[in-house]
Amino acid sequence: MRDGELSNPDVGGARRASLQMPREDMLQLAQRATELLVDWNTQLPGKDAWEGDFQQALEDQLMADPPRHGRPAGEVLEQVAREILPTAARHQHPRFFAFVPSCITWPGVIGDFLAAGYNINACTWLAASGPSQLELVVVDWFRRWLGYPEGAGGLFTSGGSAAALDALVAAREAAGASPERACVYMSDQTHGAIARAARIIGVRQEHIRQIPSDSCFRMDVAALAEAVARDRAVGLHPLAVCANAGTASTGAIDPLATIADYCEAQDLWLHADAAYGGFAVVVEEGRALMGGIERADSIGLDAHKWFFQPYEAGCLMVKDVKTLENAFGLRHDVLQDTVWGTNHPNFADRGLQLSRSFRALKVWMSIQTFGMDAFRQAVSRTMALAAEAGRHIRARPTLELLAPVSLGIVCFRFRPDDASLDEEALEMINRAVLARIFWEDRALISSAAPDGTFSLRLCILHHDTTWEDVRETLDAVERFGTEAAEQQTR
Ligand SMILES: Cc1ncc(COP(=O)(O)O)c(C=O)c1O
Repeated sequence: MRDGELSNPDVGGARRASLQMPREDMLQLAQRATELLVDWNTQLPGKDAWEGDFQQALEDQLMADPPRHGRPAGEVLEQVAREILPTAARHQHPRFFAFVPSCITWPGVIGDFLAAGYNINACTWLAASGPSQLELVVVDWFRRWLGYPEGAGGLFTSGGSAAALDALVAAREAAGASPERACVYMSDQTHGAIARAARIIGVRQEHIRQIPSDSCFRMDVAALAEAVARDRAVGLHPLAVCANAGTASTGAIDPLATIADYCEAQDLWLHADAAYGGFAVVVEEGRALMGGIERADSIGLDAHKWFFQPYEAGCLMVKDVKTLENAFGLRHDVLQDTVWGTNHPNFADRGLQLSRSFRALKVWMSIQTFGMDAFRQAVSRTMALAAEAGRHIRARPTLELLAPVSLGIVCFRFRPDDASLDEEALEMINRAVLARIFWEDRALISSAAPDGTFSLRLCILHHDTTWEDVRETLDAVERFGTEAAEQQTR
């Protein structure tokens, strides 16, 4: 081989594998994708809130080897829009009341599109100084809404689960505790993601304490104190209390200020799981309900829930940002050029992800576009709709409220005036109602069992949901319930 000659001719370019697209094709594809998305989102209210299929049918449709040669991008796009994307829950549908909805704002979607197209890696200041500064800005907004002091900070995460995991790592590191003897406390209403986070950081399953809750589904603080005392007495290491700032089942808010007093006195880390309810703090009535949250050592929030952003938009806030940096600060020679010093944070030093997408952008763009008044109004409206649903249920002789309405969540059931129907029969009737809403109605609702009683559950969270959407769904529950009860008693 002579000087200048390549050992592998493919390197030279003649047979370059092209993963590029001509500019015109790029524009055309993006234009069509945008049209499809806008059509989808504007037409959604007329469609069902859920669509799905069984695995075998989808496998028959989709399972195939990757093609050796490509095909026109427009054709691929149309197939995706026709066959794949619609076959999913429509979390942003105004009648999606199941689980925790996620309704989006268009600037937020565009924010994700831009972040992907600019291919921002918001890991270090060097890699993304502008995006890092913007994340500092948005995180600082959150800090102020939560009532956290200067010096508090955080980072965007995939969601509330990742936020809880990072928080518990920070708690463990701050306490210098071995996970072997560590105990973590949460109410029996706490989302499973929090116990899973405790398990992942190494807390033994039998040391994850589920503290009973009261009749309003709030943690019983006296029972918490007893559990901690019992564990200390046998040489275990109480590490953290995870309080609910809006449970997923009923929206209940634990007595945050009392728990904060207790945790301060006992030198326990307090994590507030505000994944669902946290953004209530942007409005006065919500801020009042969340009193004490500002005293938590860490708070998990999900902007993809009650802050109208597309997945994924979680956030972990901590009262002292050094607790995160001490736990996650990364020292690796390949990253040695990325240390810019004071005031130039590397977000990768605050959580488990190194490569991370630029999630703050969508929040910033949405707020810049609509302004906080619009966000506040949307949060208030959903709470008002839930309260109205509660009043409606109380006024209907065949509906029964099963938990106090809290934030946007309403737990209730169909209950005809028929003394012969025992709990088992009522559960069967309400399961039948749930199934019929699922298969036959435009809305989607889900169920819960906060104290073991089967409950239908609405989570009202969409900025465009109307009272008519809620009322017609409650009417459908009564209609299906009446039919199911007639079948039961036949
Ligand atoms: C109260 C609560 N905590 C934690 C989570 C988990 O959050 P994510 O799904 O964002 O990981 C959820 C999810 O619905 C939730 O409602």
